[in-house]
Amino acid sequence: MKLFSANIEDLRTLYTDTLEKALDMEQKIVKALPTMIEKSTDTELATAFRNHLEQTKGHVTKVEGLLRKATGEASTSTCKVISSLVASAEDSIKDAKDTGIRDISLIASGQQVEHHEIAVYGTLRTWAGLLGQRDDMAVLESILKEEEAADHLLTQIAGHVNQQVAA
Ligand SMILES: [Fe+2]
Ligand SMILES: [Fe+2]
Repeated sequence: MKLFSANIEDLRTLYTDTLEKALDMEQKIVKALPTMIEKSTDTELATAFRNHLEQTKGHVTKVEGLLRKATGEASTSTCKVISSLVASAEDSIKDAKDTGIRDISLIASGQQVEHHEIAVYGTLRTWAGLLGQRDDMAVLESILKEEEAADHLLTQIAGHVNQQVAA
């Protein structure tokens, strides 16, 4: 039983560490999205990024809430993955001179970010379940659903943007 408790304590630490990285991730996405909105020429794409920026601000608030409940404060820990993804997105924006190619590139960058977020929240939701945190699970599930919807919308938008570029 002692070993089991130690494992749960380790999992709890891993869970809160990962929540702190998720908070850093969301804060960095809030900073990155305005440039992506500004650089989008397709109006549907710009609207999708704009709406997701509002949702992302909500993700910051929700993750802060989970952290305050778990640790008493909303600290961050550096998410190295999102820093690389944002740097890569900035390079793609600079490299693409053609507006259609830039839109395609923005969609690709956006989907890479969403896929990372989906992996993070899917994992956190599972860990919350293992820790018996039903309320946390519901919050994480609500964020996960918005990340998945954002990803699906970008796939849909890519359909017509890709066709315009190929024409
Ligand atoms: Fe998010
Ligand atoms: Fe997202």
